[in-house]
This record gives sequence, structure tokens and C-alpha cells, in this order.
Amino acid sequence: MIVTKTIEETVNFLIPRRNQGKSIGLVPTMGALHQGHLSLLHKARMENDFVVCSIFVNPIQFNNPEDLKKYPRTLEADLKLLEEVGCDLVFTPEVKEIYPNTLEPLPVYELSGLDKPMEGAFRPGHFQGVCVIVHKLFSIVRPKRAYFGEKDFQQLAIIRHMVKSLKLDLEIVGCPIVREEDGLALSSRNMRLSAEERQIAPMIYKTLQQARLKVKSTPKNDITPNQLKQWITDQISSYPSLKPEYIEVVDKNTLQPIQGWKEGNELIVCVAVYDGAVRLIDNIVLFS
Ligand code: PAJ
Repeated sequence: MIVTKTIEETVNFLIPRRNQGKSIGLVPTMGALHQGHLSLLHKARMENDFVVCSIFVNPIQFNNPEDLKKYPRTLEADLKLLEEVGCDLVFTPEVKEIYPNTLEPLPVYELSGLDKPMEGAFRPGHFQGVCVIVHKLFSIVRPKRAYFGEKDFQQLAIIRHMVKSLKLDLEIVGCPIVREEDGLALSSRNMRLSAEERQIAPMIYKTLQQARLKVKSTPKNDITPNQLKQWITDQISSYPSLKPEYIEVVDKNTLQPIQGWKEGNELIVCVAVYDGAVRLIDNIVLFS
């Protein structure tokens, strides 16, 4: 496994592979790797000749400086895990390698409003920052396929949109959420939960599962999407350390909140919930 720090050595290493016709799969990450990230790497390993993982804590996607400062950095352990899953190249640049000129204005991406609800509403500028880094990584690595988790459902939808609108020549592969046995979605933030908070955290997904059951078993006229949202909010708020930030029932494609049920709509419930001071996100597909 090769570890690169500069754009130049990464590009130079990949050119001959591409010229030999090898397919390149890219898994962008911010490190502190867990089984969720590794599931993306396993899939990339199965589908490509050459697997690249990037580890870069992207400062411009953090709207809260404290969050950036506290972000876990575990490079040595990450490299060990990447070696074990058969990753070929790890690109782990310093901030100044990616953003050498702090005065240069950053590109602005047209996102058709996908960045307005949910995460976008509570983390202004976050998705523009994600698009900047992901687009840069795509132009450095020029992968045939890039892998993203459905855990960050809005991020995945926005990246698909960016690729389509810029007509970038690569395939975006979405990967299912990896969970702990008790249902909690894996996240690098889980390690910041206290023992009590960790015990309560699975109730977020349990409630989403109950909500799905409720919708499937209730006649559509008896519950509106807003009532469902309120029910989920009440359930989650009933646990001592849980505080919902947003709960939305949205169309899977437009990410816009829906007002009424419509036959054939693909719907997903997305939530952000504070468990103590730790912000957790999760989602569940209602109808697909
Ligand atoms: P990061 O939070 O490190 O996540 C990297 C990738 O792993 C994302 O595509 C995310 O959706 C996926 N992932 C995280 N937890 C997962 C889980 N439990 N199951 C399945 N996939 C999971 O997302 C980012 O980094 C950044 O925004 C990035 C795209 C790298 C741009 O900086």
C-alpha cells in the first residue's frame, strides 16, 4: 500500500495505472475509520482493479470550529485497517496542499436547492465545502467509481447531482448504512457518547423502524406526514438524553419535505438528534 501526501505524487502514481486500462475506485473519508467506512472499501475492492482511499479532514465543510478541532485523528490505526482491506493507495494531504491559496475564492456549486433542507439548514455552507473537496479529489484521482454511504443520505444525493450537472465521467456508488447490533448507525462520533448516552442512542433507529411500521399499517387518511413527524419527535424526545434537531419526511429524489402521501413517491425519513452533546444523524426509507 502506497501512502501519498502531495497531489503531484498521487497523480503521477495513478497515470500509468490508468494508461494500462486499470479501473480506479475512490473512497473519500475524513479518517477515524470504522466498519462503515470499511464496507465502502470492501465494495470498491470487489469492483475495481485499483483502490484509492483519501483521508482528509476538510476544514471548509465545518461550520463549527470546535467540531473541527475535536474531530478524531487516528492516522496510524486507519492505515493499518486500510492495509488489511487491500487498499492500494492512501492519499492523506495536509490542508495547505489542498488549499494553498487562502485568498483564492472557492467555486460555488449549483445544487438545485438540495442543500437547503435538513443538514443544509443547520450547517450553512457545509455542502458547498463538501462539493469543493469531493470535486477536487475526483480531478486528482480521476476514478471510474466513487463510493459514498447512505448514512449521509443528503450528501450522497448532492454528490450525485453535482456529478450529473457537471457531466463528470464517473459512477457514484451508494452503500447501505452499517449499524451496531443494537441498530445504532456507526459513526466516528459514537466514541464521544458517555455510557448512559450510548445506551439510549439505539432508540433513534428503533423509533424510525416503529415509524415505518406505523405508516405501513395505518390507512393513509388516518395519518399525515406531519403527524408522523410529530409522533417521531415525541417518541425520541421522551428519552432523557435525546433532543431532536430536525426530523423530516422527504422525497428521496428532491429531498423536499412532503405535505401529503402520493402513490409511487419514494420517501425517506432523515433525522439529526443530539444525544447529550453529540449530534447523531440517521435515516430510514419509508417507501422505495
Ligand atoms: P466521513 O464522515 O469520514 O465518511 C466517509 C464516508 O463513509 C461517507 O460516504 C459516509 O457516508 C460513509 N459512512 C460513514 N458512516 C457510515 C456507516 N455507518 N455506514 C455506511 N457508510 C458510512 O462524509 C465524509 O467523511 C466527508 O463529508 C467527505 C465525503 C469525505 C468529504 O470531506
